[in-house]
Amino acid sequence: MLLLPIIASLGSAVAVSAWTTVRKTDQGPTGYVVDFRYDPLPTDPVATKVYLNGLLQISDHLHSSQSQYDNFTPDQFTADKFMVFPPITYEMDYDAVTKTWIKSVPMQSGASNYNFYVDCDPSVDPLTFRPVNNCTAPGVLDRHNPPITPAYGDQLTSTIVVPFDGRFQIRDYDYVLPLSDDSKRGNISFFNYPSPGSTVPSPDIHTAGIYLPSGYGQNSSRKYPVLYLSHGGGGGAGDWFSQGRAHDILDNLIAAGDLEPTIVVTPTFYGFNFTIPGTASNETGELGFDTVGLNRFYDLVRRSYLDYLIPYVEANWQADTTPDKRAFGGLSLGGGLTLNMLFNATEDFGHFAVMSNIPSPLPTDPIWNKTALREVGILSAGGFYDIAFENVRNFQTRLALNNLFTLTNWVFESHHDWRLWSNTLYVWGKSGLWGKVPYDMYS
Ligand SMILES: *[C@@H]1O[C@H](CO)[C@@H](O)[C@H](O)[C@H]1NC(C)=O
Ligand SMILES: *[C@@H]1O[C@H](CO)[C@@H](O)[C@H](O)[C@H]1NC(C)=O
Ligand SMILES: *[C@@H]1O[C@H](CO)[C@@H](O)[C@H](O)[C@H]1NC(C)=O
Ligand SMILES: *[C@@H]1O[C@H](CO)[C@@H](O)[C@H](O)[C@H]1NC(C)=O
Ligand SMILES: *[C@@H]1O[C@H](CO)[C@@H](O)[C@H](O)[C@H]1NC(C)=O
Ligand SMILES: *[C@@H]1O[C@H](CO)[C@@H](O)[C@H](O)[C@H]1NC(C)=O
Ligand SMILES: *[C@@H]1O[C@H](CO)[C@@H](O)[C@H](O)[C@H]1NC(C)=O
Repeated sequence: MLLLPIIASLGSAVAVSAWTTVRKTDQGPTGYVVDFRYDPLPTDPVATKVYLNGLLQISDHLHSSQSQYDNFTPDQFTADKFMVFPPITYEMDYDAVTKTWIKSVPMQSGASNYNFYVDCDPSVDPLTFRPVNNCTAPGVLDRHNPPITPAYGDQLTSTIVVPFDGRFQIRDYDYVLPLSDDSKRGNISFFNYPSPGSTVPSPDIHTAGIYLPSGYGQNSSRKYPVLYLSHGGGGGAGDWFSQGRAHDILDNLIAAGDLEPTIVVTPTFYGFNFTIPGTASNETGELGFDTVGLNRFYDLVRRSYLDYLIPYVEANWQADTTPDKRAFGGLSLGGGLTLNMLFNATEDFGHFAVMSNIPSPLPTDPIWNKTALREVGILSAGGFYDIAFENVRNFQTRLALNNLFTLTNWVFESHHDWRLWSNTLYVWGKSGLWGKVPYDMYS
């Protein structure tokens, strides 16, 4: 279902295909160049300018703060630099031979998202993230590299993965590459399930994604632990696969023997008849978040998942139904949902990963004294340049005040982006997930 861009190892002068390709160069700045290509259909309007957008800008610790980054050009990449939010915009060149638009960018290891913009410059102000040229149209997807999606969801982008080359880079994200032995890869599909209150794709029917590990189904009495992963604000059920590469990460962890074969379910908290409050209201909690209103919304989502999604998964797949063999993780607004699950469905899961979350309950909230919190594994993750940095730090302080030991994953070169969340899934899968709880220094 997914066309993976081919990794070509050809000399730089050879124009080979109309597709976006990753090219190994064996030279700096990173050892790899991605040739991004926009290949319009003959029926598409004739473009005068095409822009590539979505790749994160390049900075280093010396030139970054939690609100400002210097934008180096890709040719200035050195091993100490990293890709960090917000995205930048490149103008593409027309290639008359292939009748495509091309932009070649040296890139570091990991997954990156991109879209094309035709006659519309989507550049944003680096401080406010607002479009500066009035281009608010959605990007055009790379039709040769479509996202993995159940057909709805707001963050539709194409994603490219680039290998690590230790001669030029220091950050190894190779765990997002497809497992080389394709016979040991799991598979992804989307399913519809009955869920009262759902509006999309149809009344009382909701959609979620599912990853089944390699070998699933070969032994019908075998039970698999199930990891539920939530997207963030504006996202959808495909995000953890499309942008987060959860399937490739799981394939790699399972093949290396670092994680027992696990089913991954990716629900969506959009498309219900529940109202999602804004983040600033007159019920404002910490740091301008409407934590009261958000938790009212999360309470409905939690009930829905517990009453309809989880029973459906457990009735239809070879799922281990013991709470210790269920895990819940999520990012950003989905990190808030994960907190709500942690505090209010503590006994329904054994493991939680809270990433880039909204504010956690205040230290004075008696909810911290819930005994069951001492019997689950908790991982807390954030980026050093993450807009959620303070929420993550406060959560960790409050956990410690209550003598709740957790695993933490700070990704120093990350903002609020998928490189952080993919890395967290990898780290959690390697250490903690399905292991002894509560997590301790031996996890
Ligand atoms: C964007 O739109 C506003 C309002 O229509 C206009 O004043 C401004 O000049 C436009 N900016 C650009 C860069 O086109
Ligand atoms: C949402 O749907 C559920 C189930 O169909 C229904 O009971 C509930 O009243 C609806 N809520 C709203 C606000 O429409
Ligand atoms: C996914 O894998 C399962 C078990 O290996 C198999 O039954 C199913 O047909 C596969 N689905 C797809 C879409 O390949
Ligand atoms: C199938 O799974 C069951 C339950 O885990 C296990 O006891 C049994 O040994 C497995 N059979 C084979 C042939 O692996
Ligand atoms: C919050 O604002 C709304 C709309 O302005 C108002 O109706 C409501 O009374 C306010 N609630 C509180 C608790 O101040
Ligand atoms: C669920 O957890 C949140 C904290 O994440 C809390 O604020 C909220 O009140 C809880 N909901 C219920 C129904 O207890
Ligand atoms: C938790 O319980 C302890 C011991 O009973 C008490 O001292 C503390 O104030 C409680 N914390 C909260 C936040 O209620």
